[in-house]
Amino acid sequence: MTSLRSAVLVGATGLIGGSVLDVILSTPAYGRLVVLARRPLGRGSDKLQEHVVDFERLGATAGDWQADDVFLCLGTTMAVAGSQEQFRRVDHDYTIEAARLARRRGATRLALVSSVGAAQRASSFYLRVKGETERDVAELGYESVHVFRPSLLVGARAEHRRAEAMGIAVTRAVSWALVGGLRAYRPIDASRVATAMVHAVLAASPGRHVHAYDDILSLSAPPPVRA
Ligand SMILES: NC(=O)c1ccc[n+]([C@@H]2O[C@H](COP(=O)([O-])OP(=O)(O)OC[C@H]3O[C@@H](n4cnc5c(N)ncnc54)[C@H](OP(=O)(O)O)[C@@H]3O)[C@@H](O)[C@H]2O)c1
Repeated sequence: MTSLRSAVLVGATGLIGGSVLDVILSTPAYGRLVVLARRPLGRGSDKLQEHVVDFERLGATAGDWQADDVFLCLGTTMAVAGSQEQFRRVDHDYTIEAARLARRRGATRLALVSSVGAAQRASSFYLRVKGETERDVAELGYESVHVFRPSLLVGARAEHRRAEAMGIAVTRAVSWALVGGLRAYRPIDASRVATAMVHAVLAASPGRHVHAYDDILSLSAPPPVRA
């Protein structure tokens, strides 16, 4: 009999992290999910172990747990962060610190939500931070690192983001024209990205893998039904 896996998730109160939470809780391969969040989730499940933490002092406030797999879905916006420094603090520093802590406690597989266009030398500050975060998670000694680079995420949000909603409407309208390399810029359902993240981690493929639009669609597809 194979033993059940455990996972730790940051960003569970967000769009993509909330979907990852749902997928893991409904995936029989997982017996336990640790959530680190700055506020309570308001969710109950026998599998769920929730820790309300201070990300500025993660090591001291994270509580007692161990996990096999790590799911990193933290992120803010420049508008909320208020400065580049504070944006980097959340998207890069908190993310890396969570991954480092889980690795020290024995985790071996990792999935990170990054962004289409992420690159260490990108001219956009946002994409540069994403590229640096991708680089730094890959240096923590994980057996497998899965980086996801979605374009705009589609899903139900508690708050309305006007610019993001407009971006989704526009790219959806022209989605048919986004072909070849431009397919990576098509909006994608957050639930598909979340499913792909869990499937990729469960597939146990060593090394560093980067997943864009088409790959995310195939990783999230349900297995074929046998006749
Ligand atoms: N949205 C998109 O279209 C899109 C596209 C490509 C890539 N991405 C990337 O995907 C990731 C997730 O995006 P999302 O849209 O799911 O994000 P989201 O809904 O805004 O959720 C962000 C998560 O990060 C947490 N967080 C934010 N600021 C924090 C802080 N100062 N301290 C602690 N936790 C904090 C939030 O916690 P609270 O709920 O407590 O605030 C929430 O759990 C981000 O890295 C984003 O850059 C997003």
